[in-house]
Amino acid sequence: MSAAHEAHDELTCSAYVARAPEQPGQIETIRLAPPAAGEVRVRIAAAGVCHSDLHLLDGHLSEDNFPAVVGHEGAGVIEALGAGVEGWSVGERVGLSFIPACGECDSCVAGNENRCQPGLRASTASTMLDGTTRTRDGDGVELKQFLATGCFAEYAVVSAAALAPLPGALPLWQAALIGCAVVTGVGAVRNAARVASGDSVCVVGCGGVGLQVIDGARLARASPIVAVDLTREKLDSALEAGATHTVLATEDRPGRVVRELTGGVDHAFEVVGRTETIRMGWDALRRGGALTVVGLAPRGVDAVLSALELMTAEKTVRGSFYGSGRPRAEIAELSQLVVDGELDPAGTISHRVPLDGIESALQRMRDGVGSRSVLILDSALAGVEPDAA
Ligand code: APR
Ligand code: ZN
Ligand code: ZN
Repeated sequence: MSAAHEAHDELTCSAYVARAPEQPGQIETIRLAPPAAGEVRVRIAAAGVCHSDLHLLDGHLSEDNFPAVVGHEGAGVIEALGAGVEGWSVGERVGLSFIPACGECDSCVAGNENRCQPGLRASTASTMLDGTTRTRDGDGVELKQFLATGCFAEYAVVSAAALAPLPGALPLWQAALIGCAVVTGVGAVRNAARVASGDSVCVVGCGGVGLQVIDGARLARASPIVAVDLTREKLDSALEAGATHTVLATEDRPGRVVRELTGGVDHAFEVVGRTETIRMGWDALRRGGALTVVGLAPRGVDAVLSALELMTAEKTVRGSFYGSGRPRAEIAELSQLVVDGELDPAGTISHRVPLDGIESALQRMRDGVGSRSVLILDSALAGVEPDAA
């Protein structure tokens, strides 16, 4: 662990910076301003590489996000507190939510902290709550913090409202995934679809998030759980996470294959973000079944569904964003379920890599190889060394 810094110091540290859409990012030495009031500086132990990061780099999201420090799925240790931060202390282990929820707006009061109005505004703008950022490049040019976070970096300054406490027994390299993939996937099952014991489930897309949907469905005692993806490798990971049946998406009309196999499922989850996979989930439903769209689609992508079937088969379609509940509370709660052995995000991590392994992690995701890569920023804090090259 590096020596502690004073709260009011500006730091320099290494970070993965995206300069423009459809261009590879690069590891740069960035300048990190001290935490302002209500903010904290976190020494990042580990950060998961999520498809939303890849969407940013591949130009699928707003150009207003650039230039930016990438990364939004992280865990670490509080290293300095800004003015007025209460309830947190230096040295505490924390997971990061990418929605710094105010707890007071209509959405927060209704229990949808995932849709907190000021929190969502900051996250969408890739800034802190006040619309500025704490990150600059070596020339002093402002860098955005992707999704109000920017944790592909040795340190990140985030709002105290983004922090969730973590149980001591949970290694931080596993905790990183809880901040996005686990909250998103398990929340879609529990809060959005409200899957009950014995319900039948189909999951289209078995990447880092889809595997958490499967794990959540297994925890909810759903059966059967049918996994759909493009390759045998992905479907094998799905079986390990708790799927009971698999269907290759390369088959003719895979949604129908699922319907024939199961008689139609109660719940389908789409965890890719494409027109055709939304359609697969829809086709897999029984009459009265519900499709939950979890995948983030690039701008301009439409969902195309049969209006006749929507009515006559009484199907439901809904979206689920970041677990459809209270991400911070859920990071804490789901972390405990991991410690208790009820959920297994570690089983879905295929690669542990140093910061300079980021490009190959992104390329694996483009190629559909492996399930989740986790960047190890500080192996002592993370509790694991990067894999041997
Ligand atoms: N049919 C079936 N599966 C597909 C198809 C398809 N046509 N196209 C892609 N997939 C699968 C990939 O093979 C991969 O296993 O979807 C999975 C996507 O997984 P990841 O790339 O690991 O992405 P993940 O981080 O899980 O995110 C999934 O949710 O949060 C959003 O932005 C995120 O849109 C992304 C989605
Ligand atoms: Zn994510
Ligand atoms: Zn709010």
